[in-house]
Amino acid sequence: MTRRRRPRSSASTPIRAPASPAQPDRGKVRKGGGAPLRGNLRVGVLASGRGTNLQAIIDAIESGELPATLAVVVSDREGAAALERARKHGAPAVFLNPKDHGDRAACDHALRRLLEAHGVELVCLAGFMRILGPAFVRSLAGRVMNIHPSLLPAFPGLAAQRQALDYGVKVAGATVHFVDEGVDTGPIIVQDAVPVLPDDTEDTLSARILEAEHRLYPRAIRLFAEGRLGIAGRRVIVGEPDHRWPAPR
Ligand code: GRF
Repeated sequence: MTRRRRPRSSASTPIRAPASPAQPDRGKVRKGGGAPLRGNLRVGVLASGRGTNLQAIIDAIESGELPATLAVVVSDREGAAALERARKHGAPAVFLNPKDHGDRAACDHALRRLLEAHGVELVCLAGFMRILGPAFVRSLAGRVMNIHPSLLPAFPGLAAQRQALDYGVKVAGATVHFVDEGVDTGPIIVQDAVPVLPDDTEDTLSARILEAEHRLYPRAIRLFAEGRLGIAGRRVIVGEPDHRWPAPR
């Protein structure tokens, strides 16, 4: 049996989630990126569907733009195209059937163990349709990212592009954020805007936002891999590579 590399001890140190997103804590900076992991950040991707963001991550790794390894891809849907993309790339692809586990806590626990078994240091949600429970999120605070197809905090939740069109905004976009216990509420890492054109449909706007997403996710992961992300309350601070963040109190 192949021995899997374990995460470095500093990488597995849990980072406390902010006490409340509504109470900024600008004095303290928590390290979101951790120890220098250059070239070797082990990324686990959770995806339920087609996996184009996963593909963007794979492409960035293969081109050398992203100093990371795709440690595992996990899906809650057996037929997810994301699993096939992972297999083509030679990465472990695992279907975690929620029905095999009693409740959400049990399923989250199985997921946590799976990620640990693959030595995952950063978890990237990329179209993962299950809500992760508070215990899971707390135990990996500062180490789980999500991508969302809107300029948060506008239009959280499902059908963000439809929401943007219905509201009549002139600018839409995408956000990568750390995951906290809410839905699309965690500290924002990077955002990119795209115009909403007069004749846009949900499909055309979604396609324009998706292009932005594909640029954005590898950029956010790279910042993490370079140890450049710190979290101060609701704010993510981007430092120089391998920035020495003050120790959390
Ligand atoms: C993306 O729009 C992402 O922002 C959202 O779900 C979609 C996933 O698309 N969370 P894909 O599976 O990566 O193509």
